[in-house]
Amino acid sequence: MRQTRANSDAPSRYPGIDLHLEAAGTRVSRSLESALREAVVDGRLPSGTRLPASRTLAADLGISRNSVAEAYTQLTAEGWLDARVGAGTWVADRPGRSTPAAPPAGTPAPVLDLRGGIPDSSVFPHAEWTATMRRALAAAPSDAFGYPDPRGAPPLREALAGYLARVRGVRARADDVVVGAGFGDLLARLCRALRESGVQRIAVEEFGHRRHREIIRDQGLETVPLPVDAGGADVGLLGSSGARAVLLTPAHQFPTGVALSPERRLSLVRWAGESGGLVLEDDYDGEFRYDRRAVGALQALAPEHVVHLGTASKSLAPAVGLAWAVAPGRLVPALVRAGELSGGGQDTLGQLALAAFLTSHRYDRNVRRLREHYRSRRREVVEEVAARLPGCRVSGLAAGLHCLLELPEGVHEEDVCAEAAGHGLALEGLSAFRAEGTGPDGGRTAVVLGYGAPRPHLFRAALAAAVDSAAACAP
Ligand SMILES: Cc1ncc(COP(=O)(O)O)c(C=O)c1O
Repeated sequence: MRQTRANSDAPSRYPGIDLHLEAAGTRVSRSLESALREAVVDGRLPSGTRLPASRTLAADLGISRNSVAEAYTQLTAEGWLDARVGAGTWVADRPGRSTPAAPPAGTPAPVLDLRGGIPDSSVFPHAEWTATMRRALAAAPSDAFGYPDPRGAPPLREALAGYLARVRGVRARADDVVVGAGFGDLLARLCRALRESGVQRIAVEEFGHRRHREIIRDQGLETVPLPVDAGGADVGLLGSSGARAVLLTPAHQFPTGVALSPERRLSLVRWAGESGGLVLEDDYDGEFRYDRRAVGALQALAPEHVVHLGTASKSLAPAVGLAWAVAPGRLVPALVRAGELSGGGQDTLGQLALAAFLTSHRYDRNVRRLREHYRSRRREVVEEVAARLPGCRVSGLAAGLHCLLELPEGVHEEDVCAEAAGHGLALEGLSAFRAEGTGPDGGRTAVVLGYGAPRPHLFRAALAAAVDSAAACAP
């Protein structure tokens, strides 16, 4: 059996792709033929792929050039390959082979999107980020190219500590900042650290991201839901819940859009101080408040009992893939260790770019620009609903990238979402965010309007589709 990778070191005019093939047995050309056929069928060689020159492949496989030429000729005759004299050999187009199946008739794939928690990726500051990245890379000391600091690049931790103190009132020292590859990464690490310290249960809000609850459970912790009302999560129940930690979105509950009331903030801090409990403050969109200054971070009330978590996903883009935690110092080693054990790496160069973006205040300017962008979208949502859906109400703070569209009695959110799907709009009802095992609350039905998601040219169409869908379901 002869195995090789046809690689680009082979001497040839066209060195060729890197391809693992096996040519076995006595009829070498036959064996090569079937290896190539198999590679086309299983998709390793998609149509349009240029194959290595016969001389190159022969040298790589240690077989005669004739055997390769014979195999190519046979496969060309069978229509698997396409040989152009003097130019090379390509995998032929084989209609019907690699084209994905069309969706069943009657269910248009959604082209419009108003799901919650998704930012408009078209407003990413492309040119500024590219320039910053280039400068950060050029200025990076050689140390920056070695194995990274497991807490995150020091310049980014410094920059975040300054920014979060200035903008969100967080009590932050660079030493207490840990950078992660997104909120989910940090949540998983925190849960691992909690479990290893003996914690078994963590309280969550009755409504939130299913994925976050899954991450918690995947780390071996049990989730205990707290009811959510107009004052946020009912943290008064923490004492009897058996939970020693709680995950909350206090500035802007996701997705109901309310803020944790001042009384509950105090009661939460009291619970943490008296019981030694830990609060995970998910400040996912704390920079986006439109009617007044955002309420300051909860962490400032009890830095020893609160982990403040933030992300670049809304203020820049999910593709930046960076989030941060400001943690009580005693937790930092376990958080770092959990990151190392998860096997994840660090994007040091991206982190240096974010540090430069923050210290040059481009980050502030970008947030201000996005605030205007989303503020005006929210205004349009409110106006459109007031004009066309008299029985409905927009609720939630004037903040973030989503609000709730409260439906009149008798209108079911599943019907509105199904109607929206018929308009090609992806829309989710409030119950899609409900924690497992919690019952529906007294007839409250609503859909989440994630006005952040659509590209600018699709926003109006998406909003119109949502409003039409709700109107079509009115009693
Ligand atoms: C409530 C909430 N928390 C956290 C995040 C996540 O951030 P990341 O994009 O860093 O995973 C989101 C993003 O949608 C969110 O809606």
